[in-house]
Amino acid sequence: MQVGSHDLQWRYNKQKITILNNPYCIIIDNLFGAERSNKIFEHIISLKDHFQPAEIMYEGSLKVNETYRKNLTCYVDSLYKNNEPEWSRRREYRRRSPLLEAVDGLMESIDMGTILNSAPIPMCKFKDVNVWESQISRYGYEGEHYEWHYDRISNDDRLITLVYYVNMEPRKFHGGQLLLSDGFLLDRQIITPDSKEHTIEPENDRLVIFNSRTIHKVAATTSSSKFEEGRFSVNIWCGIRQNGATVSNY
Ligand SMILES: [Fe+2]
Repeated sequence: MQVGSHDLQWRYNKQKITILNNPYCIIIDNLFGAERSNKIFEHIISLKDHFQPAEIMYEGSLKVNETYRKNLTCYVDSLYKNNEPEWSRRREYRRRSPLLEAVDGLMESIDMGTILNSAPIPMCKFKDVNVWESQISRYGYEGEHYEWHYDRISNDDRLITLVYYVNMEPRKFHGGQLLLSDGFLLDRQIITPDSKEHTIEPENDRLVIFNSRTIHKVAATTSSSKFEEGRFSVNIWCGIRQNGATVSNY
């Protein structure tokens, strides 16, 4: 990641906030601090048996396609789900997961909403977000990767993507950078020859925020076969529903 003359960087409490342009993204370092991020990491490792080969949506259904995406994922929301009608009761149940407790706190943070209020659309809509899902990814072994794609699907359930990195320190894996592009995508290829890219390192306790329509990829990652030595990230896709119904305003 290179911070250029048109980019910004400043400190807020113990976090360091960086803004990159073209494509726009916000990077927050030291998000939760060492103690809490370590607790989240240990929790993620304890979920090892719930990780499965990643699937992608293709021709209307979820499929494994290792040339396009190869890594392990865990749908952590489904592990801490109950059928209480009240969000406050469901949220209380989710607090059994240190990760989901942290995610829910982040999504409901008034400070985050206020800080993002002056960001471009759709990031400035963060304060109105009322739906989010979390997926843990592990990359590593012999070159696991995810090629160019965007996270937006068909409605405003996915307006903003947040990626939280939490890894063993010192880092045991290689590669795994997040690449963001301001180009256009067609048939899984960037078709704009002069498009610009950011390369963002998967630093422990780092959060990256960007428009779910922004094209991005995960560079090839190598690691030992030890599960805990991989590159871990939590993808949080968030958006807005109106009266509980999906909408498509953005
Ligand atoms: Fe993605």
